[in-house]
Amino acid sequence: MFDTLLVSIDQLLAIKGSDGMKRGNDMASLPVIENGALGMKDGKITFVGTSDEARNMTAKEVIDCSGKIVSPGLVDPHSHLVFGGSREHEMALKQQGVSYLEILAQGGGILSTVRATKVATEEELFQKAMFHLDRSLSFGVTTMEAKSGYGLDHETELKQLRTVKRLQEAHEIDLVSTFLGAHAVPEAYKLDTDAFLQHMLDLLPIIKEENLAEFVDIFCETGVFTVEQSRTFLLAAMEAGFAVKIHADEIDPLGGTEMACSIGATSADHLVGASPEGVQQLGKTNTVAVLLPGTTFYLGKDHFAPARDMIEAGAAVALSTDFNPGSSPTENLQFIMNLAALRLKLKPEEIWNAVTVNAAYAIGRGHEAGALEVGRSADVVLWNAPNYHYVPYHYGVNHVKTVWKNGKKVEA
Ligand code: NIG
Ligand code: FE
Repeated sequence: MFDTLLVSIDQLLAIKGSDGMKRGNDMASLPVIENGALGMKDGKITFVGTSDEARNMTAKEVIDCSGKIVSPGLVDPHSHLVFGGSREHEMALKQQGVSYLEILAQGGGILSTVRATKVATEEELFQKAMFHLDRSLSFGVTTMEAKSGYGLDHETELKQLRTVKRLQEAHEIDLVSTFLGAHAVPEAYKLDTDAFLQHMLDLLPIIKEENLAEFVDIFCETGVFTVEQSRTFLLAAMEAGFAVKIHADEIDPLGGTEMACSIGATSADHLVGASPEGVQQLGKTNTVAVLLPGTTFYLGKDHFAPARDMIEAGAAVALSTDFNPGSSPTENLQFIMNLAALRLKLKPEEIWNAVTVNAAYAIGRGHEAGALEVGRSADVVLWNAPNYHYVPYHYGVNHVKTVWKNGKKVEA
């Protein structure tokens, strides 16, 4: 007797995570069960199969899903969830041709959000992030990563990380926390960026002690931190017991991709300017390539990350919103799926793997999230879509009908 039994599912995307991330050509294969059925009990998935097999099974609630598809809850592996304020006033500057890095160099951009985050109370940050999380959930996301990085001082970074910890308890979405203290250089450290990085490393013992983050991240970019600084910083974080990620080759091609692969980063993110060598390294190592086409789109660029070359090289590619107030103000992972089809030239099968199993591996949750397997948490999405090609195709709307998180219906 199930709690919930979904039957007559046109296509059940029975994605598996226990065999590892999907790499290279394997990303183009998607296990689809036609006329599928899925059972949930006590918060877990207890049956994955066909409607024929489920014919004599009973449940407290049986839902007819004909004309629809079912997938694992989506995983959004890169977000700047907790921040004060917003940056709509930068739109006019962008329209006049002032670039993202110029706005930052003038003390705006990330630094303007830092000012707004410093003055916000923890309660304000919490309420605001709850609002954004509700929206992410409504788009089908059940697991998400959340970065700090709008404090750049000990007090405010801790305020952000403690907010994430509270959110982990308060919201249905499972959150994975990342310390991004090395997100920009505050005015006071402009002439000594190494001293600033050391100042951020000094926080690691407290973060460990209070269990405030699993990952450490850095923005490796022109005018922010160099590849060598990033390597030294991330190695120190690994030494202190953290797994690491990097914002690499987002705007200028500096070589952060190769560096991330060489030190064993869990993921390297952005990678728009990844070199051919960096692309090859992604194919040879376990560093997941987290691509953020929404950011490239929103920065008004024409050149997108070389996703096809990465897949050709054997890399595991994941997709994310990069939700943040500056370069990608959206919680809509479905729009990112559209962009992945249109601008990264990913196939529908690759896209679904990139927002489920591979996204889970990118945040160390490959054995828990992003798959529909018996015994896993029942994180399930029912889609108003006749087939899985439909979601990356029909853009600008929300296709979600219902989300279950740990077997509980949380959005309809
Ligand atoms: O991933 N590039 C650095 N960090 C974010 C943007 C943050 C912001 O603009 O507030 C990104 O693009
Ligand atoms: Fe980011």
